[in-house]
This record gives sequence, structure tokens and C-alpha cells, in this order.
Amino acid sequence: MKSLTVQIPLIESSSYDIKIKAGLLKDLPKIIEDKLGVCSKMIVTDSNVKNSGHIDSLSLCGEVFVIDPPGECNKYMHTVVEILEQMEQKTMGRDSAIIAVGGGTVGDMAGFAASIFKRGVPIIHVPTTTVSQADSSIGGKTGVDSSISKNAYGAFWHPAAVFIDVETLKTLDQRQFNAGLVESIKHALISDLTYFEYLEDNIDTILNRDNATLEEVALFNSKVKSSIVSIDPKEKNQRRILNYGHTIGHAIESASNFELLHGEAVAIGIMGASIIEIELGIGNIQRLERVKKLLNKLSIPLKIPANITKEQIYSLLSRDKKSVNGWPKFALIEDIAKVHIDADNQWAHRVDPSVAGIAIDQLMG
Ligand code: GLY
Repeated sequence: MKSLTVQIPLIESSSYDIKIKAGLLKDLPKIIEDKLGVCSKMIVTDSNVKNSGHIDSLSLCGEVFVIDPPGECNKYMHTVVEILEQMEQKTMGRDSAIIAVGGGTVGDMAGFAASIFKRGVPIIHVPTTTVSQADSSIGGKTGVDSSISKNAYGAFWHPAAVFIDVETLKTLDQRQFNAGLVESIKHALISDLTYFEYLEDNIDTILNRDNATLEEVALFNSKVKSSIVSIDPKEKNQRRILNYGHTIGHAIESASNFELLHGEAVAIGIMGASIIEIELGIGNIQRLERVKKLLNKLSIPLKIPANITKEQIYSLLSRDKKSVNGWPKFALIEDIAKVHIDADNQWAHRVDPSVAGIAIDQLMG
């Protein structure tokens, strides 16, 4: 197996490495020691990841905080406070570090804790899901939900390093695995035709979780995500393209009461964006069918669940946290790997509600 390193030049700080290798986990205690030197470490994980054995080797090099039950139900400030207090109880100081081992929820909370502990300590991400390996471990977004909205409180806190062991994906259940691949398809759509063709040609091997193919996918993802984040780390403009398919997707995810996984809702959102592009004259049915064919390989229903109404979606869209004057902006593409950028160099656009409505109508189950 090969080990791959991607450098991410950041505007406001230095760079960090993303290392990708099947089986990397067992070498991590030494690699992390070399990277951070001798310091106290808090490993933050969840009970699923712990029970899968993914922290067995790492737990030898630090204290362990296990989030239980896993998932969004614990993604609140009180969990972050528990992490911070456990670190204080262990007399960890400014020379300590946090290592997040898990999916997006673990990474978001551990990253947020790292950003505020003693005014900031390093965070190392060891993502173990298709979503976190493709997306959330790279780019420095951290946060927790409030009782009112998702990711209401947080900070940008870039990792000291990201270590991706694709072998950890072997324990992921098929639904989670497939849903996370939607972020990979999104990355290919917004910036890399070669990647999109690679996904089309290798999707069966990917679904069989072949290590070499998964390493290649991780490298493609890292390159796409890091190139966008490095030009716009704080999502002022260009980074908004990473929300491709997410505007309608987030609304559907919320309307489903999170019964749909994030990637499943985003898959429907990508179909929505494709319909909007056709309505605006920047897309075409051939591209939509091509994207749909690849998404279909993931066995994700591409229709809005029948119990969700159009009014619910409109209402959620108007309350989207990125809304301006009660209506969100949409990231769109003109072709695979060709972002729709307007004359003012804006990478996200106001789409008339009636046009979004056409997409929602066509997606109704
Ligand atoms: N997941 C979108 C972003 O990191 O900006």
C-alpha cells in the first residue's frame, strides 16, 4: 500500500499534512509522537468506533473520552464541556492535544473543544467514515448544535494533521458507507472530471471496499477539498461550492427529522440542483441522467419522502442559516467540473423560489 501526503497551504496559518494509507492506524502512536512530541493527549471517540476496535492501538498513547450514545443526539455544548473538564481533571495544559477518531460528529465536537481549551490546542483528525474521510476532517469546520439549529456554535480550527486509514471503512454499515460516498460524487462534480470518470469506472470496486481504490478516492477527495479550502478558508465565497446539493439537501434532511442520512438527503439535493441548472439554461438532461446513474449505484432513493410537503421544504429553505433576506443562495455548476460563477465572481446564487419549486415538484415522491 502507498502512503500519500497532501500539503494544504492556508492563508492565515501554516500547512498541514493529510496522510492516506490502509492499515495506518497501527502506526499512528509513533507517527503522532513524532509529529507532536511528548505531550498529553486526549483521544475523543464514540462508542461505535471504540467497539469496532479502531482506538485499540491509539488508546495506549493517551486518555480516552467516549461519546455515548454516538451521533447527533449528543452533539451539544454539554458534551464539549465534559471533554474540556476531563482534560482539566487530568491536569492537561496548553501543551496537550486532542485526537479525534470517528465520523463527522466526533470531529466537530473534538475540534471545537481543541479550539477553546486553554485558548487552543492542536487537533489531529483520524476520520473513520466515508463522510469524514471525504469532507469533514479537512477544512477546519468545528461546532455543535443548539436546541434551535444545527452547527449553531463553532469555530474554524484547522487540524495539525489528518490521518486517513481506509481500512476503518470496513466496519461501517452499508447504508452509512454509501451515503458518505455522495460527498465524493459532489467533489468530482464541482471540480474534477477525471475523478468523476474514475468514480463511474470503479464504483463497484469502491462498494466492495477495495483498499487501493478507496485510497485513490481519499486522495482525490483530499485534493479537491484542500484546493477549495485553501483559497477560501472561512467560506466567504468560493468555499460555498462545497455546499453543492446541500441547500435543498439540508431542508430535506431536517424535514425528515434526520431519518434520512446527510448524504442521502444531499443526493436528492444534487438532483434538485441539476433540475435548477436545466431550468436556468446552464444544465442539460444528459448530464442529469449521467449523475443520476452514478447516484443510483449507491441504492439511495432520489425522491423526497412522501411524508414531506413542499411547504415544509420552502419554510426550511427560508430559515437556512445561509439565507439572505429569507432565501438561501444555491451553489450551481454549468458542467462537470465547471462551477457557475457570475459576473461579480460570486460562487453562490439567488434562485427564484418558483424555479426551486419546479425542482421540488419534480423530486416529490
Ligand atoms: N462541508 C463543507 C465545508 O467544509 O465547507
